[in-house]
Amino acid sequence: MLEAPPQGLNTLKAADIFPEQKSSLITIKVSNDAEAILNQGYTPQNALVLGREQVVMNGLVKLLNPRCVFEIGTAWGGTTYNFFLNTEEGCEIFTLDELEQPIARPEVATMFEHPRVHRLRGNSLRFDFSPWERSCDLIFIDGNHDAVTIRCDTENAFRMIRPGGIILWHDDIPLFPGVQQWLLELERHEPVSHIENTALAIWRCPL
Ligand SMILES: C[S@@+](CC[C@H](N)C(=O)[O-])C[C@H]1O[C@@H](n2cnc3c(N)ncnc32)[C@H](O)[C@@H]1O
Repeated sequence: MLEAPPQGLNTLKAADIFPEQKSSLITIKVSNDAEAILNQGYTPQNALVLGREQVVMNGLVKLLNPRCVFEIGTAWGGTTYNFFLNTEEGCEIFTLDELEQPIARPEVATMFEHPRVHRLRGNSLRFDFSPWERSCDLIFIDGNHDAVTIRCDTENAFRMIRPGGIILWHDDIPLFPGVQQWLLELERHEPVSHIENTALAIWRCPL
């Protein structure tokens, strides 16, 4: 299990994020590859979302029932695919990457042909996010992990999020000081929390 980051953010248990939903039973879908990466550790070269984080994120997606999801950092579409599995037909999914990685998994390639999944190409430092202003229910920040990009992506996310929506950051761990230090700075002004036993941080937009 991951330790809470030393001197990191206030830590939340995943079940505390939607306290009003504690007694509900939800069914989540997790992609087949998630188990394979369940016990892998993080390295700067491999910062993919781990299986248990995927389970937490998919649970959040189910509870939130978003109409619009925006991911910064597509890579091979692993998390995009989990968003796809756990959202309803009316939900539009946008995912941005400066590179277009070849997609090897057939189910992920098929997902990218689906009309509600939009693969965008561009560098988030220069991308025009204005069409999504106040329209996203869930934003996942997982692009470049340096301090400048994290700050810029976060500022854009605050403009794009809708009341009641959630912003998630990946890699809130000491291995990525740019992310961790920025989130600690943000915590002085906004109630951002670390999710226990994950590398995820979360902020929920007031209703
Ligand atoms: C850690 S991977 C994303 C993993 C993916 N979210 C997942 O869960 O499977 C980071 C991705 O961000 C992309 N990236 C890095 N800097 C970026 C930037 N400034 N704008 C857009 N994409 C960026 C990289 O090309 C890479 O594919």
